[in-house]
Amino acid sequence: MSDLVIVTDDGPVRTVRMNRPDKKNALTGAMYQAIAAAIEDAGEIAAIKCVLIAGSTGAFCAGNDINEFVKAAAGGGSLDRPSMRLLHALPRSKKPLVAAVQGVAVGIGTTMLLHCDYVVAATDAKFSTPFISLGILPEAASSLIAPRLMGYARAFSLLVMGRSLDAIEARAAGFVNTVVAPADVEAEAMKAALQIAALPAEGVAIARRLMRGEPDEIIARIDEEAELFKKRLASPEAHAAFAAFLNRKR
Ligand code: COA
Repeated sequence: MSDLVIVTDDGPVRTVRMNRPDKKNALTGAMYQAIAAAIEDAGEIAAIKCVLIAGSTGAFCAGNDINEFVKAAAGGGSLDRPSMRLLHALPRSKKPLVAAVQGVAVGIGTTMLLHCDYVVAATDAKFSTPFISLGILPEAASSLIAPRLMGYARAFSLLVMGRSLDAIEARAAGFVNTVVAPADVEAEAMKAALQIAALPAEGVAIARRLMRGEPDEIIARIDEEAELFKKRLASPEAHAAFAAFLNRKR
């Protein structure tokens, strides 16, 4: 396990905490691996009934580390596989996923929530997916799930135009369950995780599968998006957008 991701088992709840606050929890390859491993492993441990994904005060996750995008683009646009491991682990998770979101949730920081079963957002949460302006494409099957969940118009505004949603808008869009003060978000998410964990586990598992369907369609879309994403990663637009972020004046 990397220190940048802290995994804690507390009774029936496994908390997976992104812990790179100085970089707003932007995800590196090692972090993708650690989060994916924690979710996969939870699926094999009967005592773990629910996985809670959390970030830090002011930052749930700022998306993929842009430096790693630049490295991947320099390698001909091939993203290495740690991110794919997480993208597959989310829809295949055998255990329910709860998220506690404070502050920024960018890119995968927002799209991973589409795979969660219960999301608690702080009033300061801000959800955005600036994929197209970055020269890349929606991922994590968001191109499939978001239009179904929130309707095409809102999905277009979020995924294509890159317009952000606040916590109340995200709740209205259907991927946030409840909005609380930042100081309460973790406790509220843990409360929900414990409630889920106290339910008959087999019933929860069967209901999740019936409600979500088999993950094959989702996985197929994730793989399709990833192939197209690789090409866009090497595009001049992506190159320019990454350089603009890394060279921005602070
Ligand atoms: N990749 C790499 N570094 C990132 C990052 C990312 N995705 N997001 C933030 N960081 C780093 C910043 O470079 C900065 O590092 P520094 O202190 O060494 O300069 C640090 O995290 C803090 O970020 P900063 O931009 O100063 O914080 P902010 O509160 O002003 O803004 C964000 C926060 C998330 C809005 C802004 O950092 C941002 O837009 N990040 C890029 C998000 C993105 O496009 N992700 C990819 C989506 S596919």
